[in-house]
Amino acid sequence: MDPAISTAPEATTQTAIQSPTLQSSESQWWRQAAVYQIYPRSFADANGDGLGDLPGVTSRMGYLTELGIDAVWLSPFYPSALADGGYDVDDYRNVDPRLGTLEDFDAMVTATHASGIKVIADVVPNHSSNRHAWFTAALAAAPGSPERARYHFFDGLGENGELPPSDWPSHFGGPAWTRVIESAGPNAGAPGQWYLHLFASEQPDLNWDNPEVREDFHTTLRFWSDRGVDGFRIDVAHALVKDMSLPLRSKPSLEILVDDGTDVLFDRDEVHEIYAGWRSVLNEYDPPRTAVAEAWVPFTHRRLRYAQPTGLGQAFNFDLLQAPFEATAFRDIVTRCLAEAQASGASSTWVFSNHDVVRHASRYGLPDGTDQAGLEAWLLSGGSTPAVDPERGLRRARAATAFMLGLPGSAYLYQGEELGLFEVADLPAGSLQDPTWFRTGNKVKGRDGCRVPLPWDPTGAGFGFGGAPWLPQPAWFAEHSAAAQAGVPGSTLEFYRAALALRRTLQTGESLSWLSEPGAALTHYTRPNGWGVLANFGTEVQELPAGIDPAKIVLSSGAPVAQSTGPTRVPGETTFWIAP
Ligand code: GLC
Repeated sequence: MDPAISTAPEATTQTAIQSPTLQSSESQWWRQAAVYQIYPRSFADANGDGLGDLPGVTSRMGYLTELGIDAVWLSPFYPSALADGGYDVDDYRNVDPRLGTLEDFDAMVTATHASGIKVIADVVPNHSSNRHAWFTAALAAAPGSPERARYHFFDGLGENGELPPSDWPSHFGGPAWTRVIESAGPNAGAPGQWYLHLFASEQPDLNWDNPEVREDFHTTLRFWSDRGVDGFRIDVAHALVKDMSLPLRSKPSLEILVDDGTDVLFDRDEVHEIYAGWRSVLNEYDPPRTAVAEAWVPFTHRRLRYAQPTGLGQAFNFDLLQAPFEATAFRDIVTRCLAEAQASGASSTWVFSNHDVVRHASRYGLPDGTDQAGLEAWLLSGGSTPAVDPERGLRRARAATAFMLGLPGSAYLYQGEELGLFEVADLPAGSLQDPTWFRTGNKVKGRDGCRVPLPWDPTGAGFGFGGAPWLPQPAWFAEHSAAAQAGVPGSTLEFYRAALALRRTLQTGESLSWLSEPGAALTHYTRPNGWGVLANFGTEVQELPAGIDPAKIVLSSGAPVAQSTGPTRVPGETTFWIAP
């Protein structure tokens, strides 16, 4: 561990956390951007087939502009059999015909740019789908062939190769190996080699030791950059390089990682050679294309390696997402992450929800202390046990969001959180599509509950989504629809719009100062330009600290504030923004 970044100083009152000054140049737009994640199949369905599509995104440009985001990140829209919601890619340089055409993509980029919004595409380099031309060729070829060398094909253990080559489990349940029936070579027609898939069996892992694989992803980065994409989100960025030397090392759990780069499967030091190569490609463009790593690496100093300027530039920071709604936890994470980001020259990122986790309005409405196992049990009970307090969940979600949107760095938002959507925990079993549900023998429900198509209108088929949605929407979506909230003071949508508009003024230098002591009833920080954020994580109402002019409170995560007088007290589980 590098001592320079492992000893982040404890925050003290009035201590400014210095980070590199925001370079306001166009090429640095991403350092403090508000990025809105679109899950294309669930956003808007223009052709009425029940699957969201790219023309659907284009048709909602007015909504995105009014929301006030800086960029959209689109989850995969590539041809896919949807074994894993599009993260099983058949062809990296095309559009799923159900979602549109390359021309539709170009039209979407043009409309997005015309609205002053950047476009980030999702790259899935760890695995292709089993329908990718390379994998089809690998199956048709014999063991030892160049076609097989693009993936990880191994002979099995046991007398007749009947056992998987190692004990590695897959992320979605079951083993990470599947045996094939050979179609070429001396064993044609018989069970033969095994291939590696850290996710579903339809997602064979690519062999990143193969120069052809490396070169092909450069081609993909250029392909989308040439079409105007401004940046990339890199799926499972920490898994590409693996120790495949024989005998394969044991790793019975994927959850436990070491922090020294020697794990068999994840976060190995050599992976950064790949991203240095990507940086060279991304820097061929003006402005250079940006990139953000999805790397569930629990050690900040390791995660930041992905974010170095010679690498991808940013990495998702899931620490707040995994933290309880609690002042000390939030403050400690912010202090540590900003200090470590400063040490590495990266800008910090923050996120509460995405397409892989239970929506934060639901998480915060569950009893305190509910952990991942508790969340899974809750989903399995159809959202009934334990009971969620939806008002509290949404109140705390909004307070957390206001706290986060005021922080230095980039904020990643997930479609529907601006509508205050909860997890749809009671999806009927017959509608579930997440491979986790199938690969665990229906023991883990998976992520469909945060992927239900968005409600745009309070009435009508699909609540204005388009055709009959591919996942059923609950009746309560009506009151959460965009049209039901637009223009309604105090609605979650108007709260997000107000916060994102103010954020443009607030986000200048990449630093903050804590004005409250750790453990104080109110958590208070300011930004270099004088903007202040005051959060009450507790349930008791608190008096406004002396020295704060109530008339300067311009945003509340709770009920809107009356601008003429301003509030003199801070309600429980509420965040205020204070203008300079
Ligand atoms: C990432 C994606 C997730 C997907 C997985 C495999 O974690 O966010 O949705 O299932 O990678 O591609």
